[in-house]
Amino acid sequence: MPPSTTSAPAVRPASFRFRCIACGDLSDRAAQNFRCAHCGDLLEIVYPDWKEVSLDPARLKSIWGERRLSQSPIDLSGVWRFRELLPSLDNSDQVITLREGNTPLYELPQCARITGVPRLFAKHQGLNPTGSFKDAGMTVAATFARLAGFRWVACASTGNTSASMAAYAARGGMRSLVLVPEGKISWSKLSQALDYGAVTCQLRTDFDGCLRLLQELVLRAPVYQLNSINPFRLEGQKTLALELLEQLDWQPPDHIIVPGGNLGNSSAIGKALLEMHDLGLIPRLPKLSVIQAEGANALVRTLREAGGKRLVNVQAETRATAIRIGNPASWKKAVHVLEATGGACEQVSEIEIAQAKAEIGAEGIGCEPASAVTLAGLKKLLKQGFVKPEESVVLVLTGNLLKDPDFTMEFHRGDLFKDGVDEKASAALRPLRHPPIILDATLDAVIRTLEQAEREQAERP
Ligand code: F0G
Repeated sequence: MPPSTTSAPAVRPASFRFRCIACGDLSDRAAQNFRCAHCGDLLEIVYPDWKEVSLDPARLKSIWGERRLSQSPIDLSGVWRFRELLPSLDNSDQVITLREGNTPLYELPQCARITGVPRLFAKHQGLNPTGSFKDAGMTVAATFARLAGFRWVACASTGNTSASMAAYAARGGMRSLVLVPEGKISWSKLSQALDYGAVTCQLRTDFDGCLRLLQELVLRAPVYQLNSINPFRLEGQKTLALELLEQLDWQPPDHIIVPGGNLGNSSAIGKALLEMHDLGLIPRLPKLSVIQAEGANALVRTLREAGGKRLVNVQAETRATAIRIGNPASWKKAVHVLEATGGACEQVSEIEIAQAKAEIGAEGIGCEPASAVTLAGLKKLLKQGFVKPEESVVLVLTGNLLKDPDFTMEFHRGDLFKDGVDEKASAALRPLRHPPIILDATLDAVIRTLEQAEREQAERP
């Protein structure tokens, strides 16, 4: 029998403080909009204790490993298993968990052949309980919402945050309020929020408009905001990097590539890498690169046109609706981690996204369009020589294939790019399409189809 719980008597849990990313003001409390009381910028969570308690890296690694044998809910969570690097709780019953994290790291042999990068991996966050990476952050932020005594939690979302928030609120006995842009999120994501009991408002605006409204709402109503402006979210999302490094036996890959929307996830992964490096858990830093859709490229433009000094916001448009964001809240945090790890920032076209998504699908794992920007971006970074073929690369797949079936169906039916798209580029996608075939229900018809598929495969280069 595995032990029912593992304790870590030699390692104290972390007490934490809020620090403003601009003026550095330290505080024990955060305002309801999670903005600095002095300068209005974003807050991050810091752990002044870490210096004093001298966390021993070997001991931490062994405790985290031992917990994998435990059956207690807090240890079964792939997030709370790493709790020494998270804000501390008084007791483990306080946690709202759906056994998030514990996501696989896959090899990608076919994409490795396509890109010419043999050591290519995917960390599939789409295999979280609600189908996206948001769950890792939500378990922490929802837990602290309930501890703070809130009955209502709320978020603006392109769909995944709202699905995740609604699920964790339901598990934790809280009500949830969802603000999403009308007509701009997939039905799969919207339907999750409905099933988990959220009050769901489809607002006649875009994501940026929803987030603006939410920031005002939290100052007027007793609701707790669960967007990634909330620094507890980012603490939970840090564990993606901890778990990844554990899966790689603490040998850092050369590159980690992540999609960029509101830029919370890249900031969280970067924070984790910097903390791991500071604590001696890893010997060197991987380069963290962020990829955006061309039509939602605020960070790309912020770096190219303003040297990362001021936000260049855009009117966002992309079929990768998860990252259809023009005014990313965490842009300063993302600029910081890109600079600190030496990563790059690139943009990819709609065709490149669709092609990469189909190529990942052909590996038998699949992902949603926003996640596929990582593979499309890798191809660009290889062309530019920023990534070398002999280096190791981890793509962070942020959402499940089932999150956006409309995109997938339109792609395979050939309906995704009807107008205004370069014919040649679109033709390159043809071999990746597998449209459904409607037949009479006869054996002959099915056998003829099978033979036709064999012939087509043989003709392929
Ligand atoms: N990939 C997926 C599948 C997402 O849902 C998101 C963001 C991102 C990437 C970008 O992550 O915002 O941290 O840079 N979705 C948010 C939402 C905005 O509301 O679900 P980010």
